[in-house]
Amino acid sequence: MISSPFTSFLARCLGRQLDLLSRSCLSIALAAAAISSTTVVAGSLERALVIHNRVAGVPPTPEVLTLMAGYIDGANGKTVDDAVREAMKNDAFYNVTLKNMATPWTNRDQTVFAPLNDYTATVVGLVHDDKDFRTILSTDQLYVGKTGLGLPNYASNSNAHYEAIEAKGLNLKDVLEPKSQSSLNGLPAEAAAGVMTSRAAAKAFFIAGTNRAMFRFTLMNHMCRDLEQVHDITRTPDFIRQDVSRSPGGDSRVYLNGCIGCHSGMDPMAKAFAYYDYKFDAATDPDALSGSIQYTAGTVHKKYLQNSATFPYGYVTTNDNWQNYWREGINSNLGWNWKADPSVPASGAGAKSMGEELSHSHAFAACQVEKVFKHVCLRKPADSTDHARIETFTNNFANSGYNLKQIFVDTATYCSEGN
Ligand code: HEC
Repeated sequence: MISSPFTSFLARCLGRQLDLLSRSCLSIALAAAAISSTTVVAGSLERALVIHNRVAGVPPTPEVLTLMAGYIDGANGKTVDDAVREAMKNDAFYNVTLKNMATPWTNRDQTVFAPLNDYTATVVGLVHDDKDFRTILSTDQLYVGKTGLGLPNYASNSNAHYEAIEAKGLNLKDVLEPKSQSSLNGLPAEAAAGVMTSRAAAKAFFIAGTNRAMFRFTLMNHMCRDLEQVHDITRTPDFIRQDVSRSPGGDSRVYLNGCIGCHSGMDPMAKAFAYYDYKFDAATDPDALSGSIQYTAGTVHKKYLQNSATFPYGYVTTNDNWQNYWREGINSNLGWNWKADPSVPASGAGAKSMGEELSHSHAFAACQVEKVFKHVCLRKPADSTDHARIETFTNNFANSGYNLKQIFVDTATYCSEGN
């Protein structure tokens, strides 16, 4: 039993772990070997350990390791899927893996070193509750800490509620519950568009600027594309705002070959955010820590009308209607409305329906798969085999009702096979 595959499993385990975890990794591996030598083979133990480390970010207890190895060997009709699901029961799947995956989506620096907030908690909660992950960009929902835990209440002008969850070391797996977002942040229900209107996203992406940042970062985080990758100069430029020069540096070719490529598609989409802002007192609160999201139904925020003299004949925003010009042209390859849902048209009014337009695309589903793949496989999809699997997993994700756990099952199974 303590043969070369087992030794190599130990070596890999130790090699992969952070220093802090190495010791426990070693002792667990040894304990597991002792416990399980009669029931499972080293290959399954090794695979179980890899799956657990990748999915939960920490080594399993000897009991869980043996249980998972047994599932991998087909005990009681179980499969590798069940082993992955066992690993997802670990607190660290929620506290570490999901939190670390989502935190960079919630700030401009894309850093993981940021406190828990309403955006990350909502990602964690949606996964925990097996919800349709597409709702992340459109529903009137946020996850908060349950009552009775001694937490400060959710506040639209503070992140203290979530920081207290972390300070108390509470398990996200146990303490989160969904609430209607509009009951928490005062938005009308129809203006609550998932995490895009969370406090954290508003603080990061509705602050100052022109609200194009909310569109750009949502595209990056949930469609896995920055603007350069959707650049298309063949779209109608009729919604490009007045603040974009039509002859930068006196040269209209720069506009026609550059600026147009992003702004003709982005400006009609970012229009959906015309009534939102993140309000804070720059004099007393320069870091905007105590600001809150503001929504002015029917009144376009002045940031949409700034620098109107740059090109007076540019588009003047008068409402929050949006248009997706990228349904046609090269960006049709994003697979807009790939399930041909009649309730997802290429235009609408407000952030909620625009969020549905994004989240009902093939690119959205594939992006969730790519992100989980990177976390579980510790690398980017590389060759044609990987890409074929990404496509299969994207379809599995859709068939599971867009349950993000399905992606963990698929990627952990694939990447623990030595891929
Ligand atoms: C690769 C895509 C892309 C191209 C090309 C591009 N832009 Fe932009 N532009 C953006 C994005 C994204 C934002 C929002 C940035 C933010 O707020 O974080 C933006 C914002 C702006 C703003 C508002 C800045 C502010 O916050 O006050 C102006 C003005 C602008 N662009 C003009 C131009 C001009 C002129 C050109 C051509 C020289 C151009 N852009 C080319 C993507 C692009």
